[in-house]
Amino acid sequence: MASRTDASLFAQSAETPHLLAQRFGATRRLSLDLVATLSDADASAQSMPDASPAKWHLAHTTWFFETFILRDHVAGYSLFDDRYSFLFNSYYEAEGPRHARPQRGLLTRPSLSDICIWRAHVDTALQTALPDLPPLAHTLVELGIQHEQQHQELLLTDLKHLFAQNPLGPAVWNAETAIASEVAQFSAMKWIDGAAGIAAIGHGDDGFAFDCEAPRHDALLTPHALASRPVSNGEWQQFIADGGYHTPSLWLSDGWAWVQAEGIDAPAYWDGDRQFTLSGWRDIDPAAPVTHISFFEADAFASWAGARLPTEFEWEAAAAVRDPASGQQLDAAGPVQPVAPADDIGLQQMFGSVWEWTGSAFRPYPGFRAAPGAVGEYNGKFMSGQFVLRGGSCATPRGHLRASYRNFFYPHQRWQFTGVRLAKDL
Ligand SMILES: [Fe+2]
Repeated sequence: MASRTDASLFAQSAETPHLLAQRFGATRRLSLDLVATLSDADASAQSMPDASPAKWHLAHTTWFFETFILRDHVAGYSLFDDRYSFLFNSYYEAEGPRHARPQRGLLTRPSLSDICIWRAHVDTALQTALPDLPPLAHTLVELGIQHEQQHQELLLTDLKHLFAQNPLGPAVWNAETAIASEVAQFSAMKWIDGAAGIAAIGHGDDGFAFDCEAPRHDALLTPHALASRPVSNGEWQQFIADGGYHTPSLWLSDGWAWVQAEGIDAPAYWDGDRQFTLSGWRDIDPAAPVTHISFFEADAFASWAGARLPTEFEWEAAAAVRDPASGQQLDAAGPVQPVAPADDIGLQQMFGSVWEWTGSAFRPYPGFRAAPGAVGEYNGKFMSGQFVLRGGSCATPRGHLRASYRNFFYPHQRWQFTGVRLAKDL
């Protein structure tokens, strides 16, 4: 059968099959570690249409490997259960009809343990097949690993949203192991000049990248400065105290309409001086970066501060010389909450901690084209009405990020670990 998928527009993995197999195994293990404390009920509930049950994430990532690698590239492989394609296809029109996203929480069967049995079956089959797979299939394994890492972050943020609905305020990881900044107060924010002129933007080396990070191209940067760190909770409290949520002149029209319609007066998960975390309710940490804010809130705060959001190109030009594996990122299952920068030298927390809203629309770079087949639906079809976020968060698995990495959400969405770094014109 001719392959239905073509990942050739995703940058290739340069790794040997042995290294790829190791990373595949580690990634699959981390997903299971993240749900180790969950009951079947915890893993099955869905708190809103944007979020998915933990069990669904475990299943959907398995469907991805089984469909695009085992089914398409391993002769004689038969699907573990051919009904699962309907249940666990997310949005791939080329893969046929699927269960409605808002109804994922109604799937009490298959159980969490059934899904884990399927995962083990697919893992064994893939590890067995991997050494003999063609290079194209290795690229698809890499895509599957990167895809599962994205879902690990979503699993955590979806779980946080779910547990926040419970008046008991349950913790995924207990309060004794909760994390907080080592400093009590935020340090003064500084302005760091950015490079002006023409900058090369987009993915340009041999490693893996998603299709939307290319083609590499030139962008013009006007004279500007970036804030030395993301906006802190303490600064956000000042915005609130100054009537930021009640001053329409600070807000975009759509943002003001959203604030009014939803009754928004603080970041998500805030209640007075407390905030809900994956370790339950905690005191708000004034030195830590503010998180769970929408694009609308980020933009209004920037207006209040006499600044603006950075463009994604300003952010990338500054990040290109930094280590994308640095900063506060996800290393293992455990408490996840951003903390204050460890020092105040230069640009801090460019990677990890909180995703930084930019003022850039998620649109194709010049010359972009989606890959043919189902994986071409990965990013390209979402390039409408969303804004780019950069830099990753404390819930992003370490090793997943790059300077060219583009995340994207709708301007009202804020259940991810979203924050903001200010910029200004010079
Ligand atoms: Fe997915």
